[in-house]
Amino acid sequence: MVKVRSQFIRLGLVAVIVGLSGCEMKPMHRMTPRAEPSAAAVQKPVATESQAPALKIDVKPFGETEDGQPVRLYSLRNANGLKADIMTYGAIVVSLRTPDRKGHMDDIVLGYDKLDDYIKNSPYFGAIVGRYGNRIAKGKFTLDGTEYTLATNNNNLNHLHGGVKGFDKVVWNDEPVWKADAVGVKLSYLSKDGEEGYPGNLKATVTYLLTNKNELRIDYEATTDKATPINLTHHGYFNLTGGERDILGHVLALNADKFTPVDEGLIPTGELAPVKGTPMDFTKPTAIGARIGNAYEQLKFGGGYDHNWVLNKRGREMSLAARVYEPTTGRVMEIHTTEPGIQFYSGNFLDGTITGKEGKVYKHRWGLCLETQHFPDSPNKPNFPSTILRPGEKYETTTIYSFSAK
Ligand code: GLA
Repeated sequence: MVKVRSQFIRLGLVAVIVGLSGCEMKPMHRMTPRAEPSAAAVQKPVATESQAPALKIDVKPFGETEDGQPVRLYSLRNANGLKADIMTYGAIVVSLRTPDRKGHMDDIVLGYDKLDDYIKNSPYFGAIVGRYGNRIAKGKFTLDGTEYTLATNNNNLNHLHGGVKGFDKVVWNDEPVWKADAVGVKLSYLSKDGEEGYPGNLKATVTYLLTNKNELRIDYEATTDKATPINLTHHGYFNLTGGERDILGHVLALNADKFTPVDEGLIPTGELAPVKGTPMDFTKPTAIGARIGNAYEQLKFGGGYDHNWVLNKRGREMSLAARVYEPTTGRVMEIHTTEPGIQFYSGNFLDGTITGKEGKVYKHRWGLCLETQHFPDSPNKPNFPSTILRPGEKYETTTIYSFSAK
């Protein structure tokens, strides 16, 4: 009790300091230690109720894992009323509310209402996947002469999304982030040497920021003490209708002239193939459903779209990767990234067996994922951009999702 109260006092003080300084603050200690969950509001003071909503962060307990680790939920709100709920389990975006063309707010990501459902069965809803997002062939790679073996958790064939207990299933440390024009949460996780078979103690940090420009910005950082592959991405399932129907009517554009064709197990062949003249060509905005049923081998392998596109860009520049438009609501989502690739997955494995938030049944292709990344199986593909992080280097990537309506 005493502990809880002192926690409240500390948070109260922090809230006052934040209110006074009104700008970025780097607390010297974490404000919400893992062992002591407590309901807390860290909020900038608002002068009057009639004013437009100000930037806001609420933090509350969101249950605990099976081994008793407390999980917290951060509710971020920007000055335009957009809201993002992010929890410390899996660094998962639990909900994201953005306006349609009439200004009506809807939750545009799939997921569950409760932590337990995420723990029991989630196809990576809203999570950060790692240490290596997407597949590594046969769960094997050789680095500096040593062969490493990872879990083959994808049909007993390949390694997928970091293994049996990837970054989507661990509890991250957390601290709120205040900026003059954004609020966020900085999540960090130490993935120990040997965890899921990967070499090196990897310190990973993922910072989510909800900005007043209506962006959800994700900054990824990591360092290691042994060379390791790393490929972090966000596995949000978007449905810009607010989860009303499948995503086949969403109109997608990808800034990519090439993609990486795959074999039956969805492992890239190593080739960078032109999209021109194929159903993989999204260089012009096209409804996702327009060609998804075409008799095209790549679509057969994926059961729809489940491929990596090679983004048109120079080096590590931040550039446009994708644009999605949903005609009935007018919602538009643009994705910019420093990454070289993007996995477009059309929710092919959703089959109506999952009932998600507010009792909504997630039928076939009810959500779409656009995972900015390095290419799948890069550790075994010398011609792909390297995913190896070495001691002394810093892994830094950024992806920005921008929301508007027309
Ligand atoms: C990624 C993979 C897919 C699938 C989904 C989650 O997009 O490429 O094959 O695993 O994640 O179900």
